Amino acid sequence: MLSLVSKLEKIVLAAIKNSVGLEETNAMLMPTKEEKYGDYQCNIAMSMAKRLKTNPRNLAFQLAEAIKDCGGEFIEKCEVAGPGFINLTLRSEAILQSIAQVCERGDIGEVKKVIVDYSSPNIAKQMHVGHLRSTIIGDSICRILEYLGHKVQRDNHVGDWGTQFGLLCAWIMDRQNTDYREVDLSDLEALYRESQALANEDEDFREKARARVVALQSGDEDTLRVWRYIVDKSLEHVYEIYAKLGVSLTREDVLGESFYNPMLPSVVKELQERFPEGSRPLEVRENQGAMCVFMYNEDGTPMFVNPEDEALPFIIRKSDGAFLYATTDLACMRYRVEELEVDWIICPTDSRQSLHFKMLVASSGMAGWLGKVKFEHVPFGSILGKDNKPLKTRAGKNVHLSDLIDEAIDMASKVGRLGAEDSDFTPEEKASIARAVGVGAIKYADLSQNRLSDYVFSFDKMLAMEGNTAPYLLYAYARIKSILRKASETEGYREPEIADIEVSDPYERRLLLQIARFNDVIEQVVDGWRINLLCEYLYNLSGFYMKFYENCPVLSAENKTKRSRLAICTESARVLRLGLGLLGIDTVERM
Ligand code: ARG
Repeated sequence: MLSLVSKLEKIVLAAIKNSVGLEETNAMLMPTKEEKYGDYQCNIAMSMAKRLKTNPRNLAFQLAEAIKDCGGEFIEKCEVAGPGFINLTLRSEAILQSIAQVCERGDIGEVKKVIVDYSSPNIAKQMHVGHLRSTIIGDSICRILEYLGHKVQRDNHVGDWGTQFGLLCAWIMDRQNTDYREVDLSDLEALYRESQALANEDEDFREKARARVVALQSGDEDTLRVWRYIVDKSLEHVYEIYAKLGVSLTREDVLGESFYNPMLPSVVKELQERFPEGSRPLEVRENQGAMCVFMYNEDGTPMFVNPEDEALPFIIRKSDGAFLYATTDLACMRYRVEELEVDWIICPTDSRQSLHFKMLVASSGMAGWLGKVKFEHVPFGSILGKDNKPLKTRAGKNVHLSDLIDEAIDMASKVGRLGAEDSDFTPEEKASIARAVGVGAIKYADLSQNRLSDYVFSFDKMLAMEGNTAPYLLYAYARIKSILRKASETEGYREPEIADIEVSDPYERRLLLQIARFNDVIEQVVDGWRINLLCEYLYNLSGFYMKFYENCPVLSAENKTKRSRLAICTESARVLRLGLGLLGIDTVERM
């Protein structure tokens, strides 16, 4: 990808080679903290001087001269400051050229085949706020990867197998004894709770549920038919929520746990045979009746230990013969690597699963099932209620996502001018704006956080018109569009282009530089999935735009200046929309 900083880096590295003859790989460039120091600061002279045992300031002067020689048409000023910092100021042409390149796909080096395993609710239960984060974060990851030009496969790894389904099938088939299509599945979770309660007190029902699990495992058609019906109905609800959220998952992306079920016996068997008791670094042996994988460091100590410092097993088969989450994920890893031949697997789930994924990566690596594939678990914190405890309804139940989204949309319909009695929006317009703002607010509140922190869910905060919120950004966008609309109504108007831009004011320059840095930020985001950096970037972009607008008249300016500033407005709107789009947030033309 052609980021501004990577273009500068090429110049600086070439300058180092020309002047000192060294092949460096990292120019240690970063944006300057203050405008008076230029646009980017290069810190490499200090560390190089240490290695070369020379004076850092002298070296910095030498490099600065070489940089001017190599990058004259790109760099306007190159100055040495302090102990050996090199401050770089870009030419306006370089900034404008980078703006033109924002939005170009490709040129990222190697195109990777990536699986993003996200959302992945357990469908015997209602989809709840815990899955909301995975859905929002995963969807944004997919959009960013696609922007970069990678080949993305979305994978909704739903929990659609296991003992819960034995209970549900037994409830419907053995207990209710009616046509399964007549059973009301709108509240599957309640059904599941009831069947669980019954199993706890009724030995006979417990036995029936167990028998249904066995029937499912062995492919009994009657039981499978009911299971399929439950899964389908439940997925319908889940996909209604995705539609409301504007999430890009389709039904074709479902590849649930049940898919891997036939592979589980062979996973256990192969591991047992290849890594019998006593083998290192991987060992498979029985522990209290369960089949367990143990992993060891090079020095022979256990790789994972419990708080008592005892070796921690990765359990792949319970004493009753049932397979587990770990077994399914091992089969899934092998399938993705060997059958789907992916290069990269990304899996956002809450951080309580971090240990599971560490053990999964270590064991599949040792078993030779990971190959060169890059596996990234993307952990995140919890969504909390006002009481700082995991979000619940007033009655103490899990919050239903569907209600939460509806409430956000309803509250959004009262935000700003939308709520004004005398607003001139048609009812349809109002509904579609409220939807964009409400859904956008939920997504933005989530993505703008440091991913690992817990955050308090607050409609008031996420729907505020001021501050780092979706309504603020959407409003900034709508304002720019309104200016552009007004301009387009004047006589002799033509679409402004980047070529029309003439930088004549510091407020213009600062805004343009921010726009030009879009790809810099995307590069930072991908490194560790810090999506909040993109949010921060868009928030600053809007702030710079507001400042530009206050200080640089657009519509009342003279011909050439007006055209230039309209082009600046167009580019601001374009990049805002592009960035919001990568967050999965729809923009609105009016607000
Ligand atoms: N269904 C799981 C849950 O709700 C998430 C699955 C994540 N993906 C995976 N391959 N383990 O916790």
